[in-house]
Amino acid sequence: MPTDGEFTFEPTEREAVRAALLEWYDRHRRDLPWRDIEDPYRTWVAEMMLQQTQVATVIDYYRRWMERFPDVESVAHADIDEILELWQGLGYYRRARFVHRSARMVVDEYDGDFPSTVDGLETLIGVGPYTAGAIASIAFDRPVPLVDGNVERVLSRLRAITGDPKSSENQSTYWRLADDLVDPERPGDFNQAMMELGATVCTPQNPSCLICPVRQHCQGFEAGEPDAFPEPVERSSKKPMSVAVSVVTRPAAGTGDELEFLLMKRPEDGLLAGLWEMPTVELDDEPDGQPEALDAIGGFLDASVGLDPEAALEQGWLGTMTHLFSHIEMTMHLAAHHFPRGVTLRGERERPTKWVPAGESEDVAMSAAGRKVMNRWRDNSALGN
Ligand code: ADE
Repeated sequence: MPTDGEFTFEPTEREAVRAALLEWYDRHRRDLPWRDIEDPYRTWVAEMMLQQTQVATVIDYYRRWMERFPDVESVAHADIDEILELWQGLGYYRRARFVHRSARMVVDEYDGDFPSTVDGLETLIGVGPYTAGAIASIAFDRPVPLVDGNVERVLSRLRAITGDPKSSENQSTYWRLADDLVDPERPGDFNQAMMELGATVCTPQNPSCLICPVRQHCQGFEAGEPDAFPEPVERSSKKPMSVAVSVVTRPAAGTGDELEFLLMKRPEDGLLAGLWEMPTVELDDEPDGQPEALDAIGGFLDASVGLDPEAALEQGWLGTMTHLFSHIEMTMHLAAHHFPRGVTLRGERERPTKWVPAGESEDVAMSAAGRKVMNRWRDNSALGN
C-alpha cells in the first residue's frame, strides 16, 4: 500500500483544481440559510447542527433557532430545557448541551467573541478538528482545511487512495491533501465547495462524473472506477461501543507516596458483570476530540461520586484504546485525574465504590480491559513508576 507521502497535487494541478472547483461552486452551490453571512455565531450553530445531520433536515431547525436565539448571549442566558426543546428531533442531544455550555464559555471567557483560530475554537466543547476548520475558514477566512465524510470521498477518488478511509494513515493523508489544496483567498468557499461536490456530484453511489468540474484531475475516474474509492470497509459484526474512562488516584492515607485507585463495581448483570473498573461512562456517539471525552468523564465523576474534576491536582490524557469482546468493539477514551490526599466521595452512589491501594490492585477482580487501562496509565504517568 502506498505510504502517506505518495499522494500529492503538483502546484499547477493544485491551482487548476482550486479554480475549477470554485467556479463550479459559484454557479451551482445550494442556497442555504447559513451561507453569505459573516457571523461566527451563525456558522458555529449551523456546523454543530450539521455534525451528524443532513443539510435538508438542518435547514428548518436552523431557521427556528435563529428566530429564538439571534446571538450567542441569548443562548448563554437561556434555560437548557428550552434549548433541548428546539433541538428536539435533531438527535444526538449531547450537542445541544455542548452548544449551551460553549455559548456560556464564549460570553464569560471570550467576552462574547468567538475565538478565530483552530486552536482557540477547539477549546469550545463539542468543537473538534472538523468544526474548528469549518468555523475558522468560513467565518474568519483562515486558510485552514477541513475533512468530513464528503471530503474523504472526493480526495480518495481524486488520488485513488485505497484502504480504510478511517485509518489513521489515510486520515493524515486527507488532512494533508486538504491543507495543500485549500484556496488561500477563499478558504471557506473552497471547503464548502469540496463538501458540496461530495454531497451532490461525487456521491457514494453512481457519481455524476460527466458533470464533475475536476474530472480531469481524478485518478479514480481515469481508472474507470471512481466508485471503487474509498474502499468499502468490512464492517465488523461486533457492536461498536464508546466509553470515556478515568484512572482516578489520590495519595493513600498517611505520609508515604503510595497511591490509591478509585474503583467502581459493575452491575451484577450485563457486560463484565460484577467486576471492578475505573470510573467509566458510556458515550452516545464517538466524541469529537479529546476535550469532549475529558468533559464526559469529568461530568460523570462529578455526578456519580461528587469528585469535581476542577479540584484535581493533575488531569491527564492517556489516548484512545480499542478492546474487543466477543460481540462488542469498545473504543476507550482514557483520562487520568489525580486528587489531593484525603479527598472524599459524595453523593448517593448507585454502585459500590472503593479506593484500592496501588499495591493491592492486582488482587481485585478486574476485566482484561481494566488491566490494559491500568498498564497504559503506568506507562504514561510519572506517578505510576
Ligand atoms: N456540511 C457541513 N457543513 C456544510 C457546509 N457549510 N456546506 C455544505 N455542507 C456542509
